[in-house]
This record gives sequence, C-alpha cells and structure tokens, in this order.
Amino acid sequence: MQIAVIGTGYVGLVTGACFAEFGTSVTCVDVDAEKIAHLNNGQIPIYEPGLDQLVSKNKAAGRLNFTTDLRSAVEQSLVIILAVGTPPKDDGSANLTFIESAALDVARHMNGYKVIVTKSTVPVGTGERLRGLIREQQQKFDFGIVSNPEFLREGAAIDDFMRPDRVVIGSRDEAAIAIMRALYRPLYLIETPVVITSLEAAELTKYAANAFLATKISFINEVANLCDRIGCDVHDVARAMGMDNRIGRYFLHPGPGYGGSCFPKDTTALLSVAKAYGGESLIVSAAVEVNNAQRLRMVEKIERLLGGDVNGKQVGVLGLSFKPETDDMREAPSVDIVNALIERGARVRAYDPVATEQAKKVLSHVEYASDEYEAAGGADVLVFMTEWNQFRALDMEKIKGLMRAPRIADLRNIYEPQRMRELGFDYVGVGR
Ligand SMILES: NC(=O)c1ccc[n+]([C@@H]2O[C@H](COP(=O)([O-])OP(=O)(O)OC[C@H]3O[C@@H](n4cnc5c(N)ncnc54)[C@H](O)[C@@H]3O)[C@@H](O)[C@H]2O)c1
Repeated sequence: MQIAVIGTGYVGLVTGACFAEFGTSVTCVDVDAEKIAHLNNGQIPIYEPGLDQLVSKNKAAGRLNFTTDLRSAVEQSLVIILAVGTPPKDDGSANLTFIESAALDVARHMNGYKVIVTKSTVPVGTGERLRGLIREQQQKFDFGIVSNPEFLREGAAIDDFMRPDRVVIGSRDEAAIAIMRALYRPLYLIETPVVITSLEAAELTKYAANAFLATKISFINEVANLCDRIGCDVHDVARAMGMDNRIGRYFLHPGPGYGGSCFPKDTTALLSVAKAYGGESLIVSAAVEVNNAQRLRMVEKIERLLGGDVNGKQVGVLGLSFKPETDDMREAPSVDIVNALIERGARVRAYDPVATEQAKKVLSHVEYASDEYEAAGGADVLVFMTEWNQFRALDMEKIKGLMRAPRIADLRNIYEPQRMRELGFDYVGVGR
C-alpha cells in the first residue's frame, strides 16, 4: 500500500517512519521546504529517541520519502493521513486553518478513490466538516473519511506507535475501515485491539483521554499541595492509591503541572467542544485551573525557600523541556516559572541536555549553562524543573560546594528529602 502523510512534525514524522518500518510505502509532505530539505539531507528536525535510525533505515530502503510536492504524493497514494498542527486559538478552541487548507489541497489533487484520515487532534464534527469541504471542492471521485487519533507520547513515540494499547478507527465508510484495518495489519500480530467507532466518538475519545490524564495530574497536584500543609508525603499517598487497580499507578506523580503540545490545548479545546454542543465540563475546567495555579505555586515555593524574595538572587535551573527525552518547549512549565522568577528580579542560569536551542526561542534573559554543575555555580537556589535521568545521580556534594547557598527546590521530587537535608541542603519538594 502507498500512503501520504501531510504534515511532517512530531506526529507526521513518527507516523511516516513507523508505517514505513511496517513495510508500507510512505511519502511525507510538508509546506516547510526547509524542514523537507533537512530531512532529505538526513537531518531530523526534532529530538526523539530512535527516530533518526528509523528514518535513515527506511529512507535507504526506499520506503520513506520527503517532499513538498503534495500533488504527486496524493496522486500516488490510496490513504492520505492529515497530521498537521491544530494549535489553540485565543479562546482556547482548536485552530482548524491548517487542517482545512491541507484537506482542500488534497481534494484539488485527487485522481481516484482516497481514504482521508485525520490523525491530528480535532474537535468533534471536524471529520464531517472536511467531508463537506472536499465534496465542495471536487465531485468527481469518491472518498472515505476516517478519524484515527494518535496517542503517542513524545520521548517514547516510536514504541507507542509500534506497540499501542489500542488503535481507534472512527468512520462510517465500510471500504475506508477495511483499508485502515489493512494498513494496521502488522499490529494484529501483537494482538493490538482495534476499536471501530463513529467519526464523532473517535474524535471525542482523543480529547477525553487527554483530559482524563490531565485531570489525574491536577488531582495529585492538589493532593500534594494538601500534603504540604499537613506535613505528610504525597508519594506514600500516591503509591497506596495507585495500588488500587480501579485507580492505577500512572499519572499520579506530583510536580509543576502538565505542559507540552497536547494536554494544555486539548483540555481547553474540550471545554470549547462541550460549549459548542450546549454542555459544560466542570471537572476538566477545574483541572485546567489547578494546573495554571500550580505554576505560580512553584514560584512561591522557590520564593519562600529564599526567605520571601527572589530579587537579586541567582537561580540555577536544571531541565527546561516539558518532560524528559524531548526538546519540545511548547507550554513547558519552565517558561512560566522562569519568566515569573525573572520578572521578580532573579537571574537565571539554566541547563537542559537537549532543549537549549528550542528554549532560546522562547526564553530570553536566561543564561545557558553547558552542564548541571555550571548551572549550579554561584546559585542561591537550584531548581529541578524536568526529571531527566541524568539529574538523578548528580554529585550533590560537589553541587553544594559550587552553590552560594545550598538550597534545592525539587519540583519533580527526584531526590529524597531526608538525604538532601542530611547533606546540608535546605530542601523543598512538592507535597513531601
Ligand atoms: N506532539 C504530540 O505528542 C501529539 C500526540 C498526539 C496527537 N498530536 C496531534 O497531532 C497534530 C500534529 O501535532 P505535531 O506535534 O506533530 O505538530 P507540529 O507542529 O510538530 O507539526 C505540524 C507540521 O504540519 C506542517 N503543515 C502545516 N500545514 C500544512 C499543510 N497545509 N500541508 C503540509 N504540511 C503542513 C507544519 O509545517 C509542521 O511541520 C496536532 O493536532 C496534535 O494535537 C500530537
């Protein structure tokens, strides 16, 4: 089977590379000519473990191509996967400009039956809207519309794509469903459940799943804040809660709040969807509010540790990306927290193992260090912002010697409070 993936960002590139690895012929298309040129020169525009090997292997095998030529990609392909961005608008709803324009471009170049698949995260009703737009643009060829939401996690994207918990295929077009089943056939071998739903249910599933996970994070953050007041350890509570199979142990780790390219925008987009259908989502609305407040709480935590004022203080920051194993800075908690510290008069020196170049685009007035120890040098407080594995076993004696004063704000609870205090640090975590 020959397929085209429109939009070669995180999702499009991973999708294209993984389907190629399954043996499918894939053409990845993007409007960003520079990105396509880089990919054709063997340069991967994002940091995602294992992706560079997968891309180069499948490119060399001739199964994976990159182009800006949408026309030939559409003409050659039976399945066209839309994986363009759906960023938030000012009112929190999803901006559908990119996906609508991509769908219209596809419609213009159709030369036979096509299955048009939305992998981008889109509001309920988008599939039907695209069907209307494509039908308006061309009446000559029949086509199927499918919603196939993507659940991959950045940092573990390839494994998530190759070994997903489930594949969701939403459509009312029987022929399109059969073609999608064939496309995902390699996953039958590992008994991946394939859930066939209506277009609308598939679209809502993605938002509901992300909103649920975001709510779990906000829930445990609220419990952590309560633990801070009570003086008990949120990890004890989370562990004991999570052993209940009805609750589950994942996403019960407290911290500075969720970030990234999905949870923040998908939660607010779900609120817009609920509103558009005359309903509301009080729980998700609260999860968003708790998350926004959590970032400010972290700033206040750092401030208290410094005796109530960050003005004139040197703050070392370890980790900037919204989570480990990615260089993605979209909606990273570090952005709000570092900006608030700088606004209050702090000087910030930060180190991230891979996100520095991306961070420079969104965080000015920050000095960038080349390793953890340089970031800690002369600092009045060292803030653990992202839980990169390499931060878990630092030489804390050395760090203490480099700092102006031994204070740690561990926003990811990487270290044991007791141990840090024994080492002579003034230490705060989240809910411990
Ligand atoms: N990043 C994730 O972890 C993740 C996970 C699941 C779902 N999603 C969803 O997948 C979608 C894509 O997310 P992303 O993070 O890959 O976005 P991204 O911003 O990294 O990539 C989008 C790409 O689409 C290209 N593009 C825009 N308009 C185009 C057009 N008309 N034709 C061709 N290319 C075009 C852009 O140049 C860009 O390269 C979003 O809806 C997102 O919510 C993302």
